[in-house]
Amino acid sequence: MNALAATSRNFRQAARLLGLDSKLEKSLLIPFREIKVECTIPKDDGTLASFIGFRVQHDNARGPMKGGIRYHPEVDPDEVNALAQLMTWKTAVAAVPYGGAKGGIGCSPGELSSSELERLTRVFTQKIHDLIGTHTDVPAPDMGTNSQTMAWILDEYSKFHGHSPAVVTGKPIDLGGSLGRDAATGRGVMYATEALLAEHGKSISGSTFVIQGFGNVGSWAAQLIHEKGGKVIALGDVTGSIRNKNGLDIPALMKHRNEGGALKDFHDAEVMDSSELLVHECDVLIPCALGGVLNRENAPDVKAKFIIEAANHPTDPEADEILAKKGVTVLPDIYANSGGVIVSYFEWVQNIQGFMWDEEKVNMELHKYMNSAFHHIKAMCKSQDCNLRMGAFTLGVNRVARATLLRGWEA
Ligand SMILES: NC(=O)c1ccc[n+]([C@@H]2O[C@H](COP(=O)([O-])OP(=O)(O)OC[C@H]3O[C@@H](n4cnc5c(N)ncnc54)[C@H](O)[C@@H]3O)[C@@H](O)[C@H]2O)c1
Repeated sequence: MNALAATSRNFRQAARLLGLDSKLEKSLLIPFREIKVECTIPKDDGTLASFIGFRVQHDNARGPMKGGIRYHPEVDPDEVNALAQLMTWKTAVAAVPYGGAKGGIGCSPGELSSSELERLTRVFTQKIHDLIGTHTDVPAPDMGTNSQTMAWILDEYSKFHGHSPAVVTGKPIDLGGSLGRDAATGRGVMYATEALLAEHGKSISGSTFVIQGFGNVGSWAAQLIHEKGGKVIALGDVTGSIRNKNGLDIPALMKHRNEGGALKDFHDAEVMDSSELLVHECDVLIPCALGGVLNRENAPDVKAKFIIEAANHPTDPEADEILAKKGVTVLPDIYANSGGVIVSYFEWVQNIQGFMWDEEKVNMELHKYMNSAFHHIKAMCKSQDCNLRMGAFTLGVNRVARATLLRGWEA
């Protein structure tokens, strides 16, 4: 099942549990606006290259729309649509005053030079500058984009509208980015894990973890879990997987990786087959890489008791059903990986205030938001008699539905 079908299915199930009126349900599902633009740039060799850029603005009932921009060859309107919709529910679950959006350009960023990427980003910004804005739609980095991309968007946008640091988040610190933003999603994953384990009378310290992905989210989650006394016993990335039943030395592994070493060459671990990673014995499994990695083929063999969805939609609906029957507790993506958008919100607030917070304040506020969202999800699970995924969806959908109804329909 593709991402859009899976997200829309979860939404419809939540709408049914909440007893939403069918017209309201339809209105919440249809995106506010879908933008498709042609972006032609001169390449470094003087030839022309054309790309298609997308921005799907899903909903703005609770505030400006918010979501990443990805540069990837397989960016397609259906997936962007699903991710924009997920952002609407995610920002509502996190209780940050935003709606949802997502965008992207169909391109292979690895095959473009830095100046070609800059030209492409500037042309894309020229085409959409009237449709984004501090109080309209606030982009952020996603796959294939980074703080430099946001700096170019900020610069190009500001040529039309004056200096506007809050038009994008995930910026470099020198241009108004927030301290703590880089670690935010991984830190949020750690806070979410702590909250879930505490509910079950357990803690990070003394639990074993398997992590798929050692990029931004996976490496921060691994470091922070290690600092809390958790044992990361297996870890994998696109190059391969390793394990150590006594727990991997994560700081040493980080040093090895930062010096350019591949996981499989790390001295203090055994190389393992990557197909065994997600079904490895452990207390907590944290997918931090791709979508759809847990499916009907491998879900029956999962041995973890808890799954924390740090990646976006790592569990397909068939796997969800299998895992539920096995008694595996799944903490859903729209809550578990919301640390990034929460600190993006803090970045936007700091830019609007013109006042920079220290990192301690950012982390403390993030902890408050993550804990509060967890307890609101649990309350929904109790009142709706549902699992955590539906608890999170009903919480998010209900908040957006209430805001929509309060704003009214009069033209
Ligand atoms: N970065 C954020 O703030 C953020 C926020 C919310 C959700 N997410 C989601 O978290 C996930 C990871 O994002 P990221 O920012 O860490 O990306 P990243 O590009 O920094 O890292 C991705 C990691 O996944 C690994 N990987 C790729 N293909 C793999 C494969 N086939 N098998 C095993 N590992 C593989 C890569 O080697 C890398 O270690 C994505 O699903 C993303 O949408 C990220």
